[in-house]
Amino acid sequence: MSSGARVVFLPSGRRGSVPRGATVLDAARRLGVDLDSTCGGRGICGRCQVTVAEGEHAKHGITCASEALTPETETERRYAADRGLAPGRRLGCTALVAEDVVIDVPPESQVFRQVVRKEAEARAIELDPVVRLYTVAVEEPELGSSRSDAARLLDALAREWGLQHLSLDTQVLRKLQHALRSGGTTALAPWHVTVAVHDGTVVTAVWPGFHDAAYGIAFDVGSTTVAGHLCDLRTGEVLASSGAMNPQIRFGEDLMSRVSYVMLNPGSVKDLTRAVRGCLAKMTAELCGEAAVERTDVLEVTIVGNPVMHHLLLGIDPTELGGAPFALAADDAVRVSASELGLPVDEGARAYVLPCIAGHVGADAAGVILAEAPQRQDRVSLIVDVGTNAEIVLGNRERLLAASSPTGPAFEGAQISCGQRAAPGAIERVRIDRETLEPRVKVVGCDAWSDEPGFEGARVTGVCGSGIVEVVAELLLAGVLLSDGTLDGSLAARTSRVVADGRTFSYVLWAGDPELTITQNDVRQIQLAKAALHAGCTLLMERYGIDHVDRVRLAGAFGAHIDPVHALVLGLVPDCDPASVTSAGNAAGTGARIALLNRAAREEIERVVRDVEKVETAIEPRFQQHFVHAMAIPHETDPYERLGKVVALPAKRVAPAGRRTRRRPAEAGRNAT
Ligand code: FES
Repeated sequence: MSSGARVVFLPSGRRGSVPRGATVLDAARRLGVDLDSTCGGRGICGRCQVTVAEGEHAKHGITCASEALTPETETERRYAADRGLAPGRRLGCTALVAEDVVIDVPPESQVFRQVVRKEAEARAIELDPVVRLYTVAVEEPELGSSRSDAARLLDALAREWGLQHLSLDTQVLRKLQHALRSGGTTALAPWHVTVAVHDGTVVTAVWPGFHDAAYGIAFDVGSTTVAGHLCDLRTGEVLASSGAMNPQIRFGEDLMSRVSYVMLNPGSVKDLTRAVRGCLAKMTAELCGEAAVERTDVLEVTIVGNPVMHHLLLGIDPTELGGAPFALAADDAVRVSASELGLPVDEGARAYVLPCIAGHVGADAAGVILAEAPQRQDRVSLIVDVGTNAEIVLGNRERLLAASSPTGPAFEGAQISCGQRAAPGAIERVRIDRETLEPRVKVVGCDAWSDEPGFEGARVTGVCGSGIVEVVAELLLAGVLLSDGTLDGSLAARTSRVVADGRTFSYVLWAGDPELTITQNDVRQIQLAKAALHAGCTLLMERYGIDHVDRVRLAGAFGAHIDPVHALVLGLVPDCDPASVTSAGNAAGTGARIALLNRAAREEIERVVRDVEKVETAIEPRFQQHFVHAMAIPHETDPYERLGKVVALPAKRVAPAGRRTRRRPAEAGRNAT
């Protein structure tokens, strides 16, 4: 009579006694060990691979060798010949437990493995996709039995995988008869099929025989650009990424002008919807082409976007978002068929649009929260996604607040005389000599500074957002700019870099062709933008009851390129130690990717978003007050002492009365987003 054998699984450490002769896969299931399988133990998928941890395991009182499992089987030899099996690897569904054994489950054989993110400070993504594949053997129909193909499929899924109460999509019913009877291209006989099960509730796709490909796409729909990442739902790996300009730009540069377009042109919502859906469809085809993936193997899509993009993508009129009280048509997450959004993917694929937070704080901010997870931390984080409309999230596990601030497109180079988007030739770094007031610059696409060998021949075409932040901050540090934002005309006597420009002065940043100057109006535009952002941050901090934050995360492309010290010198965000200001990368897109790969993340963000306290800057009287103080550089009343420990800030100087200009926040315009 065979007695039980002790089995220990690593790395989980789960252990127990199983009957000798049990498969490793069965042993894993009995002991609650995470060991993957798609083919249901048929020796086809190769997901159940394990190795015997040979040697002495004093901790467990087991010494084992490869013989602790039964010898290599015919199934393994066949699998090794077809698909390759590394030395020492066994298929857990066919190797039997012979003796006490310690078994290693490698990461790729774990269902719930972690996807490591490259970004610093990033949390790993737990892999638990909402779509899973299951291969089953369905009983053949019999004369005298009235069980339908669908009923017998559901029986098989319950019998083999314990899946209960499933429903079947109509397109599955259409394909099922053929799939069951053809047997597919694998070694499996007819009456074997693989199905995709969405969220443990509905069968969304069916393939004859064994099928082992499941992909998803995470989209970040911005007002200017759209980004997409094609991911393998099995591994979490990003197989292809692409970006495209949002074709809605032809209806308006910024979001509010697109809302105005809709208001002025009745019935035009469908045109904007068609434009953005067309862009997503084109990107889907490109991503699949690049990764050599069949579009019908794309089974899941997630989408983030600001509220206006969210509405237009779903075909919802965004007019209500154009004015107070900025009412969203829907703030819950939206689950919709991907084909309803015009995406050329499997017809059973679902799209999940993350929830919006408030009228100006959208599903993109929800994505940022998922990626940054402030709700899991004790320290208070200030997370700023600097787009043409800044979205701000503040808080920790105790409390989260969110707001948006109308920063306008100045940080993207718009409304700046020499501004341009970040592209080769754009000045992205600036240093100004404190004595000579001469600038050195660095441009996108060239590693050398302008006074270093290697810069010769570099094209200089304009200044991008990070360059604009740096030049204004450097002008202040060099004493060319007064704290109230006035360019000091008295320096024209000392340097040819400061030149009269009508009744004001300009600073010549680049004396080549084209000549690039920073005008007084350019500085004003930056002041308006940064004051709006700073005021939004201050408002949230005031609501939270804190006067400084432990950590600032700058999200978005602009945030990724901005230098923390210069951002603080400008007063872009409230005073803090520059070392605690870091880039969060494309956090909104990462959030979409997390929602794609982890179904619990969807529940988490839906729960967190419900509890976020929304602050509407447009109707908040204190916002105006904070804005006025934040117009000064870095700030009118805050001495920026934490920054001052790292950088010598110049003494506060303002222009004589009469030469000062100050504009109200309304001029920053809520037309920017
Ligand atoms: S479970 Fe598929 S090969 Fe073992």
